Parts: sequence; structure tokens; C-alpha cells
Amino acid sequence: AAVPSTPLALFGRAIRAGRYRRLVLLTGAGVSTAAGVPDFRSPTAGLYACLRRVAGDRLGDPTDVFCISSFRADPAPFYALARELWPSEAVRPTRAHRLGVALARRGLLRRLYTQNIDGLDRVAGLVPPLLLEAHGSFATAKCIEGGCGAAADIAAVRAAVDAGSVPSCGACGGLVKPDVVFFGEPLPAVFHASFDGDVAQADAVLVIGTSLRVAPVCVLPEAVPPGVPRVLLNREVAGDIGERPGDVLALGDIESSVTELAAACGWPEAVMG
Ligand code: OAD
Repeated sequence: AAVPSTPLALFGRAIRAGRYRRLVLLTGAGVSTAAGVPDFRSPTAGLYACLRRVAGDRLGDPTDVFCISSFRADPAPFYALARELWPSEAVRPTRAHRLGVALARRGLLRRLYTQNIDGLDRVAGLVPPLLLEAHGSFATAKCIEGGCGAAADIAAVRAAVDAGSVPSCGACGGLVKPDVVFFGEPLPAVFHASFDGDVAQADAVLVIGTSLRVAPVCVLPEAVPPGVPRVLLNREVAGDIGERPGDVLALGDIESSVTELAAACGWPEAVMG
């Protein structure tokens, strides 16, 4: 008897048949865990659980380290962590990153929204405008002292971070911050400029490796009109995906699901390293 197809394989075959040509991808930290980068909210290996273990009671809410008011009051905790978080050349993209590139090369990607600041989509070969780094990146930094706003020399910022110190503005001596989005800060203007059009134009939404807990990015899957399939590749359910007819839940290891999807699309090799 023929092996029954999974809903994910059926979705891949529909891509292969040309049914979806304006895919919107939404990714989170789960696409990078296979590369050794911790996610935020996994119960033991996640960054927030690690911070709780290391700092114990001295730490209030571990998300405070990415809170703009805490950073202005004392940037040292963020910079201590930035030493670990700053993208390193040794970390290589995963199959999930290569999936976005594979769809882009075939002209099937409307946009990839990533919440990640690890830079791995760029390393894999995806660049703006197809890539939208909704939570910014470590590629640039600027002075956040009132009225200054000078662009910082990113190599100097990184050197200071590697040396364990807090970088300062070359122009005014004020506080410098990499252009990653903190809680309490607006998202890049390009996010708001792209969102409505992408939501209206998407013919399918593929959500990979995110708990969908942080707004406004988490709103995207709910914002697409009914009838547009939403596909989730994640260890557990996230948001309301699975509640509409046509949704696909591929719960389990992301790298295995991406392998299955790429095979069903007819280009298994495109996601291999
Ligand atoms: P989370 O850590 O909240 O969610 C990651 C999701 O990926 C979880 O549901 C994990 O179970 C899942 N996951 C991890 N590895 C996996 C694997 N190998 N296979 C299957 N599933 C896996 O990360 P995000 O949703 O990206 O924002 O977090 C969103 C935002 O919260 C981040 O961008 C960051 C954070 O605070 C800011 O700092 C502003």
C-alpha cells in the first residue's frame, strides 16, 4: 500500500505544482537551534532559562536585558550577553535558513520576516528587501543619547564588546546600542511599510521556529485572510495556527520537517549543507 502523505508533504507537492508563488515566511529562534544558537523560551536550553539559572534571584524578569529602559539605566548586562550573542563566523546556517533561500531562488518568496538577530539568513544568502529583519541586527549601531544619533563604527563597537567593555559614541561619548530592537522600541519602519501588502498578497504563510509570543510580529499569521493556508513547523503549537481549515501543523524537529518539505517540493538537495 502507498505510504499516506502527511499534510506537510501535500503542501510541498502543491508548491511543486505551482499553486503557491507568494509565500510569506515568518521565522524565530527555533530555526537556529540546530546551528547551536539557543532560542529564548525553551524550558531548559532557552536563553531566558539560562539567565535565570546564572543570575538566580538577582535577576527580575530575564527579558529585562532586552528592555530599552533597563539598558539606558545600566547597559552592562546587555553588553555582557552581547559578547555571546554577537554573530560569529563559526556558526553556519541550518536547513531552515536554506529553505528561505531555495524559495527565493525559485521566485516563490514574497518575504521572509525573521525575528532573529543572529544574521544567519544573510549568511545563507538572503538579503533585503526579500529578507526583513523585524527585530533589527548587529550589523549597525548608533548613539542613543538624546539629539546625537551618530552612526557608530561597528568594528569598534564589536571590539569593545569582545574586550568586555561598554562601547561609547565617538562623537559625543554617549551610549551606543546595536540596531537590534529592544522591548519598548519601535520596529524598523520597513516592517510597517511591508506588513499590510504582504499580508494581503500572501498565498501561503510558513511559520518556523517561533513561539509567536512577541508583538507585533506574532500578529502576522492571524492577519492573513481566511483561505490562505498557514503552515507551522515547530516543536509545539504556536498562536492560532491549526484553528483554520487549510492550516498545517508539522510538530516536531524543524530540520526533519524542512527536509520532508523540500523533498515534497522536488528539490531535496537545496536545503542540504
Ligand atoms: P522562542 O524561544 O520564544 O520560540 C522558539 C520556538 O522554537 C519554541 O516554540 C521552541 O519550541 C521552538 N524550537 C526550538 N528549536 C526547535 C527545533 N529544533 N525543532 C522544533 N522546534 C524548535 O523564540 P522567538 O519566538 O523567536 O525578541 O522569540 C521571539 C522574540 O522574543 C525574539 O526575537 C526576542 C525574544 O525576546 C526581542 O528580544 C525583542
